[in-house]
Amino acid sequence: MSVRHFLTLRDCSPRELEQLIARAMELKAMHYRRELYQPLQGRLMGMVFEKSSTRTRVSFEAAMAQFGGHAIFLSPRDTQLGRGEPIEDTARVLSRMVDVIMIRTYEHEKIERFAANSRVPVINALTDMYHPCQLLADIMTYVELRGSIRGRKVAWISDGNNMCHSYINAAVQFDFQLSIACPAGYDPSPAVVRAAADHVEIVRDPALAAANADLVVTDVWASMGQEDEQTARHQAFASFQVDAAIMARARPEALFMHCLPAHRGEEVSAEVIDGPASVVWQEAENRLHAQKALLEFLLTSPA
Ligand code: CP
Ligand code: NVA
Repeated sequence: MSVRHFLTLRDCSPRELEQLIARAMELKAMHYRRELYQPLQGRLMGMVFEKSSTRTRVSFEAAMAQFGGHAIFLSPRDTQLGRGEPIEDTARVLSRMVDVIMIRTYEHEKIERFAANSRVPVINALTDMYHPCQLLADIMTYVELRGSIRGRKVAWISDGNNMCHSYINAAVQFDFQLSIACPAGYDPSPAVVRAAADHVEIVRDPALAAANADLVVTDVWASMGQEDEQTARHQAFASFQVDAAIMARARPEALFMHCLPAHRGEEVSAEVIDGPASVVWQEAENRLHAQKALLEFLLTSPA
């Protein structure tokens, strides 16, 4: 039996992704009705975190507990991974003990090597290149509030980072137009852009990206692991804040999203993130429901 992994949004077909979003909405409704649904009784998730996390850790742990399973938190500080045990060996061992593994790490190549040596599904909980779980929650939130995102315009106003790459993949898989505004030198990977050519444009003016957008998204200017670049990045991104003037360029019913954690007064003004267009709390909550749909899909779908 071949193992399904979720390392990028490209690991699922557009139809599977649509089904995941629809299922996440059903699971959310069941959760709100306090319906007990425990398809993962006796199943275990290994959670490898090489970077900090609030939302990802809590949403996966909560998902496993609500599904009747259990999650084991593993940090490099207190596992042999932090002392140099090869990632391949760790994958071989962990995947003989647990039923699914999520990993948050630096190089994307590391999670690929892990997955290649795992007997069980591996989920990308963020790498330097991608953050696909966040996109499940973002698209779910858009669909809940505005219906299908197909044919809509999304503005990404921030760094060409892991979130941006996952938005580029999402533009292809969910069929929307993505306008990326970032300073020169902070572009997304050309290979990722090339693979999405007719869905993506890169502009240097945030107002242009936001023009008539249905959804405006931003993220931190310096991601985890880029702490040393903070000063240079603050200078380069100074004119890329999503503020009320930028939101005024978008459509009147446009939504604002941010994967969080956010820095008010940097990539987004307080007025916008705490204002009426912002759906960031619903977006954060939907991590739980979307990942439950993903776990159910990976662990209970017939082969
Ligand atoms: N958005 C997100 O992944 O948040 P955490 O870093 O808190 O997990
Ligand atoms: N781009 C950010 C996302 C955090 C959820 C980072 O990688 O730090």
